[in-house]
Amino acid sequence: MARVIMKDAHASHKVQVVDDEGNTRLRGICMCGLSSNLPFCNGSHRKTEDEEEGVLYRYNEDGTREECSIQIE
Ligand code: FES
Repeated sequence: MARVIMKDAHASHKVQVVDDEGNTRLRGICMCGLSSNLPFCNGSHRKTEDEEEGVLYRYNEDGTREECSIQIE
């Protein structure tokens, strides 16, 4: 079964992570939905930087993007 998930974020959400040794560091949580390393950001959100307002895009597994439309009843 396929599903469509709509996201409009263009950047990650930063969280502070503490490892087993007590070291803290910031990690980005993916908010755009394009990361191949979910739940963490891998920089793929940069592909969204030139999106136009009001246009719906589909990102394909091969990295290409296309404009599309959906009908919700
Ligand atoms: S926010 Fe999704 S890859 Fe960075």
